[in-house]
Amino acid sequence: MSNSGKSDFFYPKEDVIAQANVNEYEKMYEYSVNDREGFWEEQAETLGWYKKWDNVLDDSDAPHYKWFDGGEINIVHNAIDRHIAGPNRNKMAIIWEGENGQVRNYSYNGLNREVCQFANVLKSMGVNKGDIVTIYMPQIPELVFAMLACAKIGAIHSVVYGGFSTEALASRIDDANSRILITADGGWRRGKQIDLKSIADDAMQRTPSIEVCICVKNNQLEVEMEPARDFWLHDLKSLPIASSQCETEHTGAEDPLFILYTSGTTGKPKGMLHTHGGYAVYTSTTHRMAFDIKPQDRWWCAADPGWITGHSYIVYGPLINGATIMLYEGAPNYPYPNRWWQIVEKYGINILYTSPTAIRGLMRFGDRWPKKHDLSSLRLLGSVGEPINPEAWRWYHHVIGQDKCPIIDTWWQTETGGFMICPLPITPLKPGSAAKPFFGNEIGLIDEDGNDTPLNEEGKLIIKNPWPGMARTIFKDKERYADLYWFKQDNDQWYYLAGDSAKIDEDGYIWVIGRMDEVLKVSGYRLGTSEVESALVSHPKVSEAAAVGLPHELKGNAIHTFVILKEGIVPNQALEIELKAHVGGEMGKIAVPELVEFVTVLPKTRSGKIMRRVLKARALGQDEGDLSTLEE
Ligand code: PRX
Repeated sequence: MSNSGKSDFFYPKEDVIAQANVNEYEKMYEYSVNDREGFWEEQAETLGWYKKWDNVLDDSDAPHYKWFDGGEINIVHNAIDRHIAGPNRNKMAIIWEGENGQVRNYSYNGLNREVCQFANVLKSMGVNKGDIVTIYMPQIPELVFAMLACAKIGAIHSVVYGGFSTEALASRIDDANSRILITADGGWRRGKQIDLKSIADDAMQRTPSIEVCICVKNNQLEVEMEPARDFWLHDLKSLPIASSQCETEHTGAEDPLFILYTSGTTGKPKGMLHTHGGYAVYTSTTHRMAFDIKPQDRWWCAADPGWITGHSYIVYGPLINGATIMLYEGAPNYPYPNRWWQIVEKYGINILYTSPTAIRGLMRFGDRWPKKHDLSSLRLLGSVGEPINPEAWRWYHHVIGQDKCPIIDTWWQTETGGFMICPLPITPLKPGSAAKPFFGNEIGLIDEDGNDTPLNEEGKLIIKNPWPGMARTIFKDKERYADLYWFKQDNDQWYYLAGDSAKIDEDGYIWVIGRMDEVLKVSGYRLGTSEVESALVSHPKVSEAAAVGLPHELKGNAIHTFVILKEGIVPNQALEIELKAHVGGEMGKIAVPELVEFVTVLPKTRSGKIMRRVLKARALGQDEGDLSTLEE
């Protein structure tokens, strides 16, 4: 890419343009929004269906849209079965490297055997179509096998990120009322073994629904196995029931594939529900077009499968597209800050997709670490999870991408299933902007009164149309889904409210600013202020708590908390440390506050709602704004 022409654009190089899967944006965009159903129907036709759909889009119960209803498909038929019936059979599907250097590889055929065995194990445990299986695992191939095994038999997976802790896991198991938990003895991080099974044991104590726990052996930890409840996967796989052949269930396009819990403005995390058909179409199309995936590519999405990025772009999109995916379990800078660059060189990674936090974290070690390695295999780079600051963008582009790799900055959410705003490899780029809407999507910005915001002014980001990858509902709460996310405009159209604010510039480039609600993005991870507050209040010495996110150089945002202690408890540093550890124990390391400040009052409205805005402004030394609703 050269920075010629308009000074604020980075233009893609000729060879990138020449080989792009999509070599024209404007016309195709026009077509995709003028004939949305036609566009998505064409994409759906590239997949394998058992039975064709009746309607591309059914909007009779909007905003509860249905896509490809009447069709029969299974996402695993597309992610595995189609490949093993063709030339991809012996192609590498997964390359996995553990932190201690262990390597495991699976061809598509090998992946199929593992998934079939796992699926047969689940069936033998009485898992049926529509049952919800909770998965709590480190980043190992068995996590992918477990997800695909559920999908293959029509069960619904609910993956809980392996970095979460007891309460986060227990509340998700409870909400889903899961009978089966799949976990591992432990994971590895910075040379240490993380004891997942004992966290799972504590969580199972707090929730009555789990009857069976399947445990994968991943390290040398001694773990307790409760007889008749806990089973080792390797023991189950050696039984005759675990044959390496298993029929893929014919699921309806609108049958649930998974639920994934995500934090919202209030209360407990919501289980966003995604389905087999539209999600398969959306993740594979966005991945193929935005990341220009080619049959020989080695694709590395360095997220955790426990978040939506991993669901859509480690597992489903790339496998449907027949890519070779890289998985690495461990810290990016362990044992040295060149670990990732070593992986890129060793495996010849062509596309790397990660978060701004990871980029900033590696950037601080300087250029000498990436410069030790041959990174010439890289063709494209990606970013996701939070706005990327131009300084990190430039470093990523120059030092990692060697000035030749476009940066595909993708804006999307757990709720959207896949990319909503992103450039294509052919798009001229502006550092820090996710560029333009993906095909089929019309993006707008509105003010408090619902009017369109002028150019370059901040507004609420809305999506003016349904798309196949959209979550269908909040698990068990159809009404809340419609109320929280959709509103009807004067023109009778339903619009989706993203919860982010953004600006659009004179070139039509979209600049996402960040969340407008009480969702925190810490190191790209999504947490709710209410989850951190509940964890604090569950400590016996705490009476009330408030959490806010404040800008942080590395993490994007850091959690600052304000705590009122119970009568007679004296604040001190030891208690601050104790409270941080308590939040870590309940929620996981990612929720540990940067700061615990002891206070005697919290600013509240007359109706008793904590005014986090005021706390934030005070902490930043800014104007506190309108205080007229503050209680006396
Ligand atoms: O605030 C936006 C931010 O991440 C939120 C969604 O978080 P989650 O559901 O965990 O999904 C993250 C991975 C898709 C959004 O509301 N976000 C995500 N991608 C970007 C972003 N903010 C700016 N630029 C992005 N590329």
